[in-house]
Amino acid sequence: MMKAELEAIAQKMVSDGKGILAADESTSTIKKRFDAIGVESTEDNRRDYRELMFRADAMQEYISGVILFDETIRQKAKDGTPLVTLIEQAGSIPGIKVDAGAKPMALFPGETITEGLDGLGGRLKEYYDLGARFAKWRAVIDIGAGIPTPGAVAANAHALARYAALCQEAGIVPIVEPEVLMDGDHGIERCYEVTEYVLKVVFSELYLQRVCLEGMVLKPNMIVPGKKARTQASVAEVAEKTVRVLKSTVPAAVPGIAFLSGGQSDEDATAHLDAMVKLGSLPWKLTYSYGRALQAAPQKAWSGKAENVAAAQAAFTHRARMNSLAALGQWSSEQEKKKAA
Ligand code: 13P
Repeated sequence: MMKAELEAIAQKMVSDGKGILAADESTSTIKKRFDAIGVESTEDNRRDYRELMFRADAMQEYISGVILFDETIRQKAKDGTPLVTLIEQAGSIPGIKVDAGAKPMALFPGETITEGLDGLGGRLKEYYDLGARFAKWRAVIDIGAGIPTPGAVAANAHALARYAALCQEAGIVPIVEPEVLMDGDHGIERCYEVTEYVLKVVFSELYLQRVCLEGMVLKPNMIVPGKKARTQASVAEVAEKTVRVLKSTVPAAVPGIAFLSGGQSDEDATAHLDAMVKLGSLPWKLTYSYGRALQAAPQKAWSGKAENVAAAQAAFTHRARMNSLAALGQWSSEQEKKKAA
């Protein structure tokens, strides 16, 4: 295992004021996003959309790495340049989603297990040759009556750790993503309790599978109430609880934590990150690895029209800049208004 290389990549992924663009929507997920803006999900449209993102100013200044889907890592821009090269030319690192999705788990009604370990070693080799230097695997933990169960959490944590070990052996930094969903009507305390349990189990499995913590990045959810909960939480409470749960579960050897946005509004995702960084005295870097919270605005601005490309790039750069400021603890809602003016 090339420990020094893995550590250098992991550190670059979470370098000051930079975060990760999650552009790894599967074909079915990107179709949903395109349906919402009235764009047909063809291979060319998916390429055009990703190309406009990768050519935006945001890339050089604010985006340390981009998570790609299998189709995208093989695609070429309109002028024939591989999309991976566009990312590299911007000084950003190409990454790849390698899980095969969360599938219903046998004998565990209402819970899922993320698949994709079979043949993963071979696929990682191919992705490395295509330019990927980090990868992502997402485990999905839903909160509901009687779930999550210890059996499903253990199975998902084991798969995450096996994936991470295979990545490191291939010279690829694993993003370890155990996502506790914010669907449902549970309160913030329940999210805290479940996330704490999941992270404890995940780090225990990472240890058993000999994963080098210095050569990985954790991608967790924030501690928030369910979307349908009667009581919502303040920014200060989300920040305090999220930092508290992470301090009690994530070893300081982990170089960085890059949050998922998970369905929060764009501005909430930014405000929460900013408030956490402002708390200070953290043993790891905190940053973003947002999908929806970075792309909702550019998708809307683009709406599939070539004449809107510049506006979409500006919308992406604005959101990336806001999140970059948040990762530095320098964001304020005033800065959001500046753009609107
Ligand atoms: P969201 O920020 O939209 O949750 O996506 C991040 C991601 O990569 C989920 O796996």
